[in-house]
This record gives sequence, C-alpha cells and structure tokens, in this order.
Amino acid sequence: MSVSLQLPVQCALCGSVFDGTTQITVCTQCGGLLDAVIDTTQRLTPESFDAPRYTLESLSGVWRYRQLLPQIADEHIVSRREGNTPLYWHDAIATYAGMNPGQLGVKHEGHNPTGSFKDRGMTVAVSHAKSVGASVIACASTGNTSASLASYAATAGIPAMVLIPDGKISMSKLSQTLAFGAKVVQVAGDFDAALQLLREVTEEFDVYLANSVNPFRPEGQKTIVLEILEELGWNIPDIIALPGGNLGNTAAFGKALVEAHAVGLINKLPRVVTVQAEGASPFYNYFQSGFDHYEPMVPHTIASAINIGAPASVDRARRTIQNTNGIVARVTDEELLDAKAVIDAAGIGCEPASATTVAGVRQLVAAGEIAPDAQVVCVLTGNVLKDTDNIVKYHLDDVDGAPRARANRPIRIDATMDAMKKVLDDAILG
Ligand code: F0G
Repeated sequence: MSVSLQLPVQCALCGSVFDGTTQITVCTQCGGLLDAVIDTTQRLTPESFDAPRYTLESLSGVWRYRQLLPQIADEHIVSRREGNTPLYWHDAIATYAGMNPGQLGVKHEGHNPTGSFKDRGMTVAVSHAKSVGASVIACASTGNTSASLASYAATAGIPAMVLIPDGKISMSKLSQTLAFGAKVVQVAGDFDAALQLLREVTEEFDVYLANSVNPFRPEGQKTIVLEILEELGWNIPDIIALPGGNLGNTAAFGKALVEAHAVGLINKLPRVVTVQAEGASPFYNYFQSGFDHYEPMVPHTIASAINIGAPASVDRARRTIQNTNGIVARVTDEELLDAKAVIDAAGIGCEPASATTVAGVRQLVAAGEIAPDAQVVCVLTGNVLKDTDNIVKYHLDDVDGAPRARANRPIRIDATMDAMKKVLDDAILG
C-alpha cells in the first residue's frame, strides 16, 4: 500500500516550513538551507532500535534509526546495507595521540559499501530522490560523494551526473565513479566553483541536488553518531572528533546529538571537535574569531577530500560547535600525514582527510584542552584505498630530498637466496 507521507523541512535561517515531498533543497523564501524536521516529542529508549535479523532495520546501520529519520516509505528505500561500521580501540593510536590506553576509539566509516561515510547520507538522499520521481541526480564532489552517488543512483536505476574539480580528486575515487556509470563532468576550478555551478544548474533544470545542502543527506549521516552512542551503551564519550570540509557532517552530528537528547536517549552532549587541514581552514579561523568574522579562502591541502575553501554548511556547523561546547582545530599536511602513517601501521588505515582527527586530538591533548583520561572517538571517514597515490608517495618517494619518518621502504633484490639471506639478516631477523 502506498501512502503519501509528509516530509516537513524547515529553513535554518528564516524558519519557513515546506513540504519535502517535492524536489525542494533550499528555502524558496530566503535561499537558506533546510533541515528535515524530526518528531522530538516522541520518547525513545535503547530498545526502540531492536530489529529482527535480516530486516532492513538490522542490515542497515542507517535505517535502524528510522524513528529519527525522515519518514520515507519502504518501497522507495535504496539501501546497500550501509553503516554497522566497526569502532576500534587501538592502544598504539591512543598513545600516539597522548591519550591513556583504551581511551581513544576510531569509528571506521571506510567500511561502508563505497568506502566512505557518504553512503549513510546517500541512502537517504537517493531514497528521497526516488520517492519524488527524480529523473537525474547530481552532486559536486571532491570524490567520495561522487563515488557514493554513482553507486546508489545505479542501484536505484536513476541516471547520475557528478561535477568534480578537474585534476583535484584521487584516482581511486574517480575510478569508482566512472566504473559505477555516472556521467562525470570535470570542472576547471576547485570544489567550491563546481558546487556553485551545480546549484545554478539545479535552479534552472530538473536535476535533483544530492550534496549535503540537500536536507536529507545529513539525516543519514546523523546515524554515525547514533551508532557510536549505541555501541557505547548510550553512555556519552567526552569528545567526538571528525574532519571538516564542506561541514555537512559537522552539521549532521550536532543535529543527531540535540535530537537524541530531546527524545531521552542521552542526558548530556559530548563535545564535537571538527578538525580542518590548515590549507583549507576557514571554519577554524571563524571559530578563532569567536564566530564573529567569517571569510572563505582559496584552499590548498594534500587531503583532497577536504580541499574546500567556502563550506556550504558553515552556519549549521557553527550551531553544532556552539550547542556542544565544541572546538575547531586545524592541522598541517605534515601532521595529518604523520597521524595517517600511525593509523595505517596499526593495521586499520584511512585516507588522509580522516587522519586529521587523530592529529587534531593529539594537538589538543598536548595543549591541555583534552585530558589523557577523557574518552575520545575519532571518526575515520574514508578507507585507506581511497587515496593510494599519496601512500605510495609517502612510503616510496623522498619528499623534499628527505624520506618521511615513518616511511616503510620496500627492498629490491635479485631472485637469489643469497640476496634473500642478506635481507633476512639486515632487515627482518637481525
Ligand atoms: N572526510 C572525507 C573522506 C570526505 O570525503 C569529506 C568530504 C569529509 C571528510 C568532510 O566532510 O564535507 O561534511 O565536512 N567530502 C565531500 C565529497 C566534500 O565531495 O566527497 P564534510
């Protein structure tokens, strides 16, 4: 039975409320960004999320939290069993960050179907797109959103178009997007220019906008936080740290926490720590000014996923930091690459942008802003295979004439036992 469901969305700036059962993605009154309205008058308990095995609600770590998501009918849901990602506690990473053993967990969103947290938002956005009969779904992307959209749109049988900053996304992400069949448009310029162009396109053409300015994307991304809390028995950690680029995820985390609090699942909020790369840190500068002065910048960081200078969700992200007494930090490319080498060598691995979290926590512990016995969860947003070019560069190539401290050099030998014995003596057993 098909019922027509109402999906209220509200402008974060002027408060106007709209019916989200259409393709609406920005406020038609003032141009502000829209938030999905969730019923926070309901009372939820940990048992509210129990579901029988092999149902959508147990197979998907997003749709399990349906009570806190937009009410989309079953027949429209496009899921690839996203979520249900591991939370690892690895002492080598904790110690590196200056934390006591057992106090730092990493929530690995690289275990999602296309290798990044974007799948959590995309299952909701593409389900919504299907429910409104979208004919083409599009996004601008630094690579992960495009790979995710390409996959979910193909799953739904809806054509996808992605705009990427030409030459500025990793080959792995471009490969996924091409392989999943999306039409790829390479835009001369950076991500910010590509997103601006796409927003103009969606105003004029019948194209569904799937970037996180779409109110349904952050809804799925809220479940990263819900899953962390559920795994901790709904006990809150002191800190949840995540990378900041376009800031949709920071916005989603704050919304998740405020809603979880309102429905009675938690009794206080953890601090959200957003970490940016120094070369793309307009939100950090804004935070430093006491949220008084905001200025976009021309971005330049090795962490291509977060190479963004004019984040679209800056206002919503500010709300998260303010609501959670949060912190915005920034780390250099050298710091994030060093943290990445530690996370990788722990056997866990992540892409460069994700490593900003551990690098940022390390900096804040050293500065006395996070206590070593606090409980911290860092969100690793993307899989280690998302950016193999940078791994090879780090381990194989000398950088600026000097190898990096944690480089793991392969050894070249002739195919003889003598050569092999020398390797064993010198580098393995010796
Ligand atoms: N980490 C990874 C691996 C990302 O791909 C992104 C964003 C972020 C962190 C930052 O999240 O934008 O919500 O602050 N990637 C987008 C993309 C921009 O197009 O794939 P954010």
